[in-house]
Amino acid sequence: MDNLETNHRGVWSSKIAFVLAAAGSAIGPGNIWRFPMVVGNNGGAVFVLVYVLAVVLIGFPVMLAEFSLGRYAQRNPVGAFERIKPKSPWKLNGYLGIISAFFILSYVCMIAGWAAGYFIKVVSGVFKGEITSQFAEKVFRDFNSDTTQILLLLLFSVAITVYIVSKGIKGGIERWVKVLMPFLFILLIVLAVYATTLPGAGKGLSFYLKPDFSKLSGKVILFALGQAFFSLSLGMGIMITYGSYVRKSENLISLSGWVCLSDTFIALLAGFIIFPTLFAISGTSPASGPGLAFQVFPLILSRIPGGFIFGAFFFILLFVAAITSTISLLEVPVSFAIDELKWSRKKATYVIGFLAFIFGIPSSLSSGGMRFFTKIDFFGKVDFFFGNASLVINALIICIFLGYVWGLKKAVQEVKSGAPRFKLHPLWVFSLKFLSPVVIIFILYFLF
Ligand code: TRP
Repeated sequence: MDNLETNHRGVWSSKIAFVLAAAGSAIGPGNIWRFPMVVGNNGGAVFVLVYVLAVVLIGFPVMLAEFSLGRYAQRNPVGAFERIKPKSPWKLNGYLGIISAFFILSYVCMIAGWAAGYFIKVVSGVFKGEITSQFAEKVFRDFNSDTTQILLLLLFSVAITVYIVSKGIKGGIERWVKVLMPFLFILLIVLAVYATTLPGAGKGLSFYLKPDFSKLSGKVILFALGQAFFSLSLGMGIMITYGSYVRKSENLISLSGWVCLSDTFIALLAGFIIFPTLFAISGTSPASGPGLAFQVFPLILSRIPGGFIFGAFFFILLFVAAITSTISLLEVPVSFAIDELKWSRKKATYVIGFLAFIFGIPSSLSSGGMRFFTKIDFFGKVDFFFGNASLVINALIICIFLGYVWGLKKAVQEVKSGAPRFKLHPLWVFSLKFLSPVVIIFILYFLF
């Protein structure tokens, strides 16, 4: 069945709606929670530098690749490969993406739950007065050992995601992002200004901005690239799916550019809040795992005038940012189930949402909730395999598919249908055909 003709997929109602939805998918806990965590674990400024290069040289080209593939094929990630190369194993890459989306969904819902839980903490006055870093750590630890509460919060986030996705892309996704994302921007800027002017912020700034090249390694590059894909929502078929809802007349280049720019800007801002605050107030080492952002934000929020209001607002916005990402993550397996398994949207969202909740449980119990999962670092492993390695492999396959199978001529043509003066396409071709595959193969070789 041709989706173009039956047109049951829907299209975005306007360009701005699409940018906001794609940016809403990209901007999420990946920027505010995961980015500082991997910067801390991977040597600070040198990681930041490699990260920015990864976004510009590889992330942006791969995003354009996913959009053009999706818009051309008018399908979900599995269907897109199948349509261009029927009965070939390429579609396995689509499955890989769908599986990764599912697992990432399970723990991004956990983070959304954390944000909701922290909102409750702020309004119930837990962070009143100037708190210490030891106190913030203790709050995080206690929070995670209350298993019932953690699982209820997970369930809450999954339920909201399911509700919105079951309404379909127009009714659901668009409405949310339009209003709330600009607030997040402004609030983060205020917090960043405050954090960088704290006495003692200098050390944090130099950790964040002054590269120590002796820390550069294959692992740093792998994590930077993985983080770039995670943060930009690449390597999983989300942008293929979203691209399939875009009109032919839209300019995919400027769409990709805006998404990459806003996403990177927000991640960098988060770093400008976390590291100065961390060094100025707590002095602990930055490599402190998934709790980092949740331990550091309360420190700064408890010190700014009107911190109570800011704090409440901040965790709501983090929650919303997380939900706009989980929506996109759920949309991938859902649109697959609708197109290929012929399920109804309702059935698909309910069934997959329920499974995501089940798979989210062990991750949610990995930060102290249950000794076994904490000890094997279940969450860390899921995050590494699905939130890093699998994205990188998926993107590699996309590059090879576009570069050598579908052919970049056709891809360039697809982009040109909405951007007739696409002058820089030789650079795009170079990145997809040579640069990105070589870099990815290189880091995978060193890793495995
Ligand atoms: N990019 C989102 C974030 O930064 C998370 C996310 C949403 C994601 N969709 C994705 C990650 C697709 C990888 C692939 O929080």
